[in-house]
Amino acid sequence: MTKEITVIGVGQMGTGIAQSALQAGYNVILIDKNQEFLDKGFARLTDNLGKAVERGKITADEKARLLGNVTLARSMDGIGKSDFVIEAVPEILDLKMDVFRNADKFCSKSAIIATNTSSILINKLATAVSDPSRFIGLHFFNPANVMKLVEVVVGTNTSQATMSSSLEFITSLGKTPVKVNDAPGFISNRILMAFINEAASDLQHGIAEKEAIDSIAKLGFNHPMGPIELADFIGLDVCKDIMDFIYLETKDGKFKPADIIVKLVQDGKLGRKSGEGFYKYK
Ligand code: 3HC
Repeated sequence: MTKEITVIGVGQMGTGIAQSALQAGYNVILIDKNQEFLDKGFARLTDNLGKAVERGKITADEKARLLGNVTLARSMDGIGKSDFVIEAVPEILDLKMDVFRNADKFCSKSAIIATNTSSILINKLATAVSDPSRFIGLHFFNPANVMKLVEVVVGTNTSQATMSSSLEFITSLGKTPVKVNDAPGFISNRILMAFINEAASDLQHGIAEKEAIDSIAKLGFNHPMGPIELADFIGLDVCKDIMDFIYLETKDGKFKPADIIVKLVQDGKLGRKSGEGFYKYK
């Protein structure tokens, strides 16, 4: 029997998660309140599947079939048959809490509600749902249709059954789940944001040019991208939000965003998506 999942939020992460699920044989309900975002998200999904056709990964017929397995919706009233409801809206606490309260009303009593939050505590978010034993963090990595890791974040009340079904689901997507406990930024973003922030601070202090910093990570550590270009790729606003949140919760100075990041965000230079961040993009 074909299974169904719901993804709420159709930004880069939401559409990447949806693509992974479609290619693994799931039907996907994609939800966004905003029709314009919904249309843009569907266009991005169509485009990414088009690239998969160009690369010979799927046929044009398969692309059409996969797109036919997507239901676009602006409200949650049709999500009652989904086994997983995955939230991937922007990193704003109140917005996420609203989404969970709403999803809780419409999803089945056996559905797992998951958050793709990159930093906010699972225990905090779980207070929005009626049954926190069915709540879990499933943290995907960008580009979500490509990256193999999903950081599975277990809250105090997450049940063993929720945990097992989540591991099974992630494995069914061809990805590798790695379980961690709840902490601001979990493991991935505590490591990554400290790394990016140090690189930005080194640039700010004139210790090296950005190209040199990136080359060191690429050639010296075999990273596919250096920390400066990776920050642009993730989005400097996203990096700053994550750093702000971890700093607020931990008061650990290594997470206080470097001035250079704060200034770029203030100037609207958010990285690749805005055409300029540390680097300029065409
Ligand atoms: N969106 C969707 N798919 C993309 C993409 C994008 N922006 N960029 C590349 N891809 C896909 C390509 O279609 C291709 O797919 P395929 O293997 O199925 O054919 C695959 O990625 C490889 O693409 P390319 O060969 O064109 O390019 P590269 O070999 O240069 O790889 C990259 C691109 C995968 C982005 C690689 O540079 C990389 O791994 N960079 C580091 C990414 C990373 O660290 N991500 C984690 C960010 S942290 C995070 O997400 C957590 C959050 O909480 C902040």
